[in-house]
Amino acid sequence: MMKDYTLEMKLCSERKEKPQFDRLEFGKNFTDHMFMWDYTEGIGWHDARIVPYQPITLDPAATVFHYGQTVFEGLKAYLTKDEQVLLFRPEQNMKRFNRSNDRLCMPHIDEEFALHALKELIRVERDWIPSAEGTSLYIRPFMIATDAYLGVAPSKKYTFMIILSPVGAYYKEGINPVKIAVESEYVRAVAGGTGNAKTAGNYASSLKASEVAGKSGYSQVLWLDGREKKYIEEVGSMNIFFKINGEVVTPELNGSILEGITRKSIIELLNYWNIPVVERKISIDEIHQAYHEGTLEEAFGTGTAAVISPVGEFLWNNEKMAINNGETGPLAKKLYDTLTSIQNGKAPDPFGWTVRL
Ligand SMILES: Cc1ncc(COP(=O)(O)O)c(C=O)c1O
Repeated sequence: MMKDYTLEMKLCSERKEKPQFDRLEFGKNFTDHMFMWDYTEGIGWHDARIVPYQPITLDPAATVFHYGQTVFEGLKAYLTKDEQVLLFRPEQNMKRFNRSNDRLCMPHIDEEFALHALKELIRVERDWIPSAEGTSLYIRPFMIATDAYLGVAPSKKYTFMIILSPVGAYYKEGINPVKIAVESEYVRAVAGGTGNAKTAGNYASSLKASEVAGKSGYSQVLWLDGREKKYIEEVGSMNIFFKINGEVVTPELNGSILEGITRKSIIELLNYWNIPVVERKISIDEIHQAYHEGTLEEAFGTGTAAVISPVGEFLWNNEKMAINNGETGPLAKKLYDTLTSIQNGKAPDPFGWTVRL
């Protein structure tokens, strides 16, 4: 049961000029308002409010700046043809947010109230939701530790916020395969670490490998496990799937990869279609062997940003492995079309995944 929190609204008197919705870049434009909610140990959550989007003031000693006690989420709102607003499995993001909070010794949010506040914020910002094919309103809930204290200890004060950003179509000219370098030097996470939490440090530590791969023309890296550098984990901000000899395989949830909501939905969709799908350990050697035997039919990443991102090539030990001749495979295309149609309300939603505002 949701606790009875009050949501205060302080709306701005003037709205910003909107950016050109046909030229939106990811994460560069923000709407007129944001949601803020404070936590103080001994008091709990208080002062839930929707206020004008603005810079925030923090003590330079705030824990978040020094020891990275922060978690975030990412999801999207879509405008349907008949002008309805749809969210995709938002309760899953709230649940994952609290799982991340656990790992970072941060307090739980009331998931139901946070979702209520999110819906209210979107209602206020409704005309910021772009309507063109593939566009959406990206939603970024996050929490920061705000205690002014330099000791390494969980903060006693936090702020939870939600900001919104209209985003353009991920694929401007149809779904496009990406080239991915398998990372053999750096690792993203280790068993027992924070890999399965959506926390800033995981992303900060991934930048170096992406920078190095980018210099050779690879947009993303495929991470291997931190212990043996043998088993496949995930891509930058996507989980990874392979189709080998008619069967779809994806790395099992081992504590060091993020439990993607798109991943979960793809597995449920494949089961619904009776396409065999298995979650297990997959070594890079197995993928290399399947490639040489001609049984590696498709590979694709899954995540909120791109939904499905087909992989056209893997670079591994200086060898370029072209997947499906560098083209989008039929399964990736079918999954992309189905999932995006459910998300934007074009197709029926037999799973009850979408939430109407
Ligand atoms: C590290 C990582 N893995 C996987 C994903 C995919 O998760 P989701 O499908 O919930 O967006 C994301 C994006 O949130 C991510 O940051």
